[in-house]
Amino acid sequence: MAIMTTNAMLSLSLSVCFISFPFFLAIQTVLCSTDSFVFGGCSQPQYAPNSAFESNLNSLLTSLVNSATYSSYNSYTIMGSTPQDVVYGMYQCRGNLSMPDCATCVARAATRVGSYCPTACGGAVQLQGCYVKYDNATFLGAVDKNEVYKKCGTSVEYAKEDEIVGRRDAVMSGLMNGGGMFRVGGSGEVQGLAQCMGDIGVGECRDCLSEAIGRLKSECGAAAYGDVYLGKCYARFSTVGAWGNAAKRHSPLTLDYLPVIGLLSFLMLKVAG
Ligand SMILES: *[C@@H]1O[C@H](CO)[C@@H](O)[C@H](O)[C@H]1NC(C)=O
Ligand SMILES: *[C@@H]1O[C@H](CO)[C@@H](O)[C@H](O)[C@H]1NC(C)=O
Repeated sequence: MAIMTTNAMLSLSLSVCFISFPFFLAIQTVLCSTDSFVFGGCSQPQYAPNSAFESNLNSLLTSLVNSATYSSYNSYTIMGSTPQDVVYGMYQCRGNLSMPDCATCVARAATRVGSYCPTACGGAVQLQGCYVKYDNATFLGAVDKNEVYKKCGTSVEYAKEDEIVGRRDAVMSGLMNGGGMFRVGGSGEVQGLAQCMGDIGVGECRDCLSEAIGRLKSECGAAAYGDVYLGKCYARFSTVGAWGNAAKRHSPLTLDYLPVIGLLSFLMLKVAG
């Protein structure tokens, strides 16, 4: 039952995040907020409960959360008394989040990674607004262009394919040529966004984005939206009404609409069961 609830909520959030029925707008606003879940992953090795590693991991996560009140990126290495107890970690907020939103997001991601990867020596969680990763093997500063997550929307209507694909490619080359770790652009109905992790250099960022954008184009075809997350960067695009619009308005509305989400997931479970 617990698993079904999670699945229902996940598929609900995945499907409504990118669709803009007026009916679903309130739900979309909440589920596509900076704190909503995109993906997570855990390493196989496990640490022992109440070990020195666990206590170092807790210090690490606390440091990440505290740092997110004043910086959109940071990394830490917590040394142990033995080499087996060392833990490395970082977070990266999407470049246009305010500091309070970044701090809230990293706090949620740090909690989430703990429940998503209980007793794993390494774990990572990406929320819409921020990413948190820790591991007992060092990964800080290393380029990582492995694909971690990809999602493509359904194709745009045939008559609009050429226009949308043309605009998307223009937006993507704008992002490629932009500077900095966070880049946004738009053309007509198409919006794009790219973010590198703060631990890699400018040239590595460009190289990583080139890979992500190449995959978006080749793997998502004429989709209405696409997201490609690699180890150290991500690139996304969408046509109007998809992920672009909701993030700004999250906090004041979240509490107001929680009962609506509860009701909807209840209804979905009724339908499913
Ligand atoms: C991480 O922890 C696992 C399990 O204790 C261990 O097998 C592995 O060698 C560790 N990796 C590093 C880099 O210390
Ligand atoms: C950040 O930029 C994206 C892309 O333009 C936009 O959709 C989002 O609303 C922005 N977030 C904030 C908090 O301004």
